[in-house]
Amino acid sequence: MKDEQLNELLYQALETELGGVEIYTTAIRCAVNEDLKEEWEEYLEQTQNHVQIVQDTMAKLELDPETKTPGREVVHHIGASLVKAMEMALAAGNPAAAQLVAAECVTLAETKDHLNWELIGEAAKKAKGAVAKALKEAHDEVEDEEDEHLYHTTGWTRELWIESLGMPAVLPPPEEVKDVETAIGAARAKQARASML
Ligand SMILES: [Fe+2]
Repeated sequence: MKDEQLNELLYQALETELGGVEIYTTAIRCAVNEDLKEEWEEYLEQTQNHVQIVQDTMAKLELDPETKTPGREVVHHIGASLVKAMEMALAAGNPAAAQLVAAECVTLAETKDHLNWELIGEAAKKAKGAVAKALKEAHDEVEDEEDEHLYHTTGWTRELWIESLGMPAVLPPPEEVKDVETAIGAARAKQARASML
């Protein structure tokens, strides 16, 4: 494995989690649905913990968490852009529309976050010794939460959009009701939505 690119992955992972804290803080202000607001409050707390976990992992690998790389700068830029997008939607004065924007922004952010952790899990399998141990411990701690963040928010985004179109929606979404934690589970939950209306 290429050590330098593994380091890059960790810098990007830290920046993604730091951006996630800002994104959830703003998304909570956009939430109208009380269940969604509660869910995002929980995810914000978990994301704050993920920041700590990545920082601890970096310490074990003797990486400086302040290191800037071009890739990390891009991750920062995208995160700040998602916050700005939600601010724009809030300023436009339509709360339901701002909530939809926030749901999309969280989904986009969590797609990158989920990918990072999937890759950290893959790297943990190939790495050796103390590096493998550090990566595995971090991955074991966050994996289930990252699955939930992505799949449940994807469900919320779809159902809130369906509701906005004036069609019957499943709220909270099937992904949440069925406690989905895998891609297969998410596909099944989506397929079952018609029977849940
Ligand atoms: Fe996360």
